[in-house]
Amino acid sequence: MITDKKTAIEIQRATQSKISEIDFSNLDFGNVFTDHMLECDYKDGKWQTLKIRPYGPISLDPSAKVFHYGQAIFEGMKAYKGDDDSIWMFRPDENQKRLNTSAVRLAIPEFPKDLFFDGLETLLNIEKDWIQKEEGSSLYIRPFVIATESGVSANPAKEYKFMILCSPAQSYYSGEVRVLFADTYSRSASGGVGFAKCAGNYAGQFYPTKLANDAGYQQVVWTDASTHENLEEAGTMNVFFRIGDTLITAPTSDRILDGVTRKSVLALAEDKGLQVEVRTISVYEIEAAAKAGTLKEMFGAGTAAVINPIVGFNFQGVDYELPKSENSYADYFKKAITDIQTKKSEDKFGWTYKVRNL
Ligand code: COI
Repeated sequence: MITDKKTAIEIQRATQSKISEIDFSNLDFGNVFTDHMLECDYKDGKWQTLKIRPYGPISLDPSAKVFHYGQAIFEGMKAYKGDDDSIWMFRPDENQKRLNTSAVRLAIPEFPKDLFFDGLETLLNIEKDWIQKEEGSSLYIRPFVIATESGVSANPAKEYKFMILCSPAQSYYSGEVRVLFADTYSRSASGGVGFAKCAGNYAGQFYPTKLANDAGYQQVVWTDASTHENLEEAGTMNVFFRIGDTLITAPTSDRILDGVTRKSVLALAEDKGLQVEVRTISVYEIEAAAKAGTLKEMFGAGTAAVINPIVGFNFQGVDYELPKSENSYADYFKKAITDIQTKKSEDKFGWTYKVRNL
């Protein structure tokens, strides 16, 4: 990890904080932002000086390539505050690496690790009052890169902007989550960009997800594009199934996001000695298990959602409800992960990272 801050950062402080206007006990995910944001431009073949300035609009030429060709990638991370007011992050190296994996696929220049951590940690120190200690609270961090070069020729931009925004957060989903197994639309295909955290992966889901929402389901669980038989991920979360006492999830591939929460669940499951299978999961197997009463749980795992139980699913027009589970795996993983994140339990995996006091 990074040891010393080497990076010069231009900092312009907000004249007045908005924090006293915020009701931290009643937050709608992703709609409130802190007082400052970080930005860094790429031009003349290199990333320029990091800048932190008051949160506000940015100005772009209407022909900027991000608007026309969707060269845009992002990450989702969280920061937490310990009892002694120290600031902690959860596996931030994974997000930093994945941002650059996405960058390569979208023909965007990679963002250097030292700039990423020096900028992020400086911003977190400035915004530390926005990180609440209450259970379930965190500061959601949204790093992203967009193509800012003007001109509508269809080729990779020569200019980009990297930014980090911070948003105080509680839970992502409120209420019960029921899902629809996709049998018409697809999220990704082999050789495509499904594994990348790029904006278009999300835009492409909005219409089918809206149809699902209108029909009473909060999310779509995507299936493979060629047969619609194998369950892949839920777009905002990776998905886990519990049949009997076996925990099952799909292997990551070029169609599926390699989720940080997903890999943490797998490590915790192994540590607890659970029976785990990372393999192809057919919709027919889940349907048969639901009919036989052996499908005990489904849940989603993601940074924003943490661990979110799924209480029912629809497959080809038929609704299935899951039983209320005693000794639920979802509850176990949620508590285990959030206790590590918030330093309430020992972190024997070395996943937590103490933000430097820059
Ligand atoms: C995250 O979990 O951080 C994500 O990026 C999902 C997003 C749709 C909120």
